[in-house]
Amino acid sequence: MKTDYLVVGSGIAGLNFALKVAKYGKVTVATKKEIIESNTNLAQGGIAAATRKDDSIKLHIEDTLKVGYGLSNKRIVEILAEKGPEAIQNLISFGVKFDKEDDELHLTTEGGHSMARVLHSGDSTGREIEQAMTECIRENRDSEVFENCFAIDIIVKNSKCYGARILDIKNKEIVDIFARATILATGGIGYVYQNTTNPEIATGDGIAMAFRAGARIEDMEFVQFHPTTLNKLGAPHFLISEALRGEGAILVNEEGERFIVRYDKMGELAPRDIISRAIINELKGGSVYLDIRHKDKSYVLDRFPMIHQECLKYGIDITRDLIPVSPAAHYICGGIRTNEYGETNIANLLAFGECACTEVHGANRLASNSLLESVVFSSLGAQRAKRYLKNEIEAMPQQREAAIGNVVHQGLRDIEVDLRKAMWDCVGIIRTGENLNLMLKKLRKLERRLDSLDGDRVNVRFFELKNMVTVANLITNAAHIREESRGTHYREDYPTVDDKNWLKHICLEKRGEKLDVSFA
Ligand code: SIN
Repeated sequence: MKTDYLVVGSGIAGLNFALKVAKYGKVTVATKKEIIESNTNLAQGGIAAATRKDDSIKLHIEDTLKVGYGLSNKRIVEILAEKGPEAIQNLISFGVKFDKEDDELHLTTEGGHSMARVLHSGDSTGREIEQAMTECIRENRDSEVFENCFAIDIIVKNSKCYGARILDIKNKEIVDIFARATILATGGIGYVYQNTTNPEIATGDGIAMAFRAGARIEDMEFVQFHPTTLNKLGAPHFLISEALRGEGAILVNEEGERFIVRYDKMGELAPRDIISRAIINELKGGSVYLDIRHKDKSYVLDRFPMIHQECLKYGIDITRDLIPVSPAAHYICGGIRTNEYGETNIANLLAFGECACTEVHGANRLASNSLLESVVFSSLGAQRAKRYLKNEIEAMPQQREAAIGNVVHQGLRDIEVDLRKAMWDCVGIIRTGENLNLMLKKLRKLERRLDSLDGDRVNVRFFELKNMVTVANLITNAAHIREESRGTHYREDYPTVDDKNWLKHICLEKRGEKLDVSFA
């Protein structure tokens, strides 16, 4: 099969790019589940942009740089903040409705922001965006969407990308799609961790595929843990949006003490890494809760309807009860190294959104900058995308996979459970050299176990697990190499920031079967 632009992934970054380039040529979007199922769909808090008269691009830049702990790329941060208001108009033009108050866009605040600048749509901003964009892409006659189509690998020869190998899950068929440009917009990696706000689909497929094909991967040690997710036995780590704290919710410990002021003067709105570590510390003495009971009931129901409903399922009425919370893996700041146009070190391969690393987030991400990043850089990439139309579409013959095997459910399940638990225990919020070494050994064993499940290669769960192991390896190696603490990466054995030795990015590349490490 042939197309002009092959977009893998159907979150905000992939759909924005697809909608923008459809006027130039044929666009094919391949997504492993239904189009709407993405990390974007789960985003609650909102999207940050300096839209208010008393806000400024300069302040947004300053806040982003501060949270990035010295590793954010200033030029890229400037582009992000400057293009912020335009990105919001872009979303509105797709039909996205943000909440308003007295005819003005309503803004909320979140951790690390020096003022209210987060636009939102109730507490389901991602869903609103995803629905609007899904409608647009369905109506667009120059693009086609293949749902339930999983990208196994990108097709790369001599550092040039020709398309991707796609497993059509329903028809159990492998199809090679050859394209003039291939775009990875596959989202995050949260499912590599036992406790995460991310859905099961967040298995790091794009990062793993790109790494296998020789792309440069950067900043993988910087996994952001969201401080407040539901902490109730039997319940998933459902995100309790930072917007609750932005609107006045406080954190209390078992004694009812507002403990966070002992850790940071910004209190509940301190950067996420500080709050996550504070909560982990307080959890040693009992539960930690978020308390929004002092707010008017009708206000809470109106502002946080989805969180209210979700917590009710587990017997918690947030208007009357304390919400038990704990941190969980949420977002990866690193990924496939790109410039602001999404270009990678592989010709004709682009990456946008969470799977990409423009260095905008550095060592930690400012809340609600991720949806913005996805729109800004995929729009910039789309502006230059016409140039790919002059590429020939070359059909590179690929080696056939083994026949479709029987599903080895239990073997895969066991490896998945072991991997996710070990990542949480050894490469979580607080890391040590000893635990990271243990994890590296564990990963070698898990790889061997996975390889022994031969005969079942054409199985999505198998490929996802392979990707999860690859991504876990990248995170663990980078965390092991970085002997300091910075942003989301905290090493108990190196507890301070070390600018003299570590004000640099760790880049990982595959050379044959070896991992090549360099610094940028
Ligand atoms: C939240 O609603 O707290 C998440 C927002 C984000 O991760 O930027």
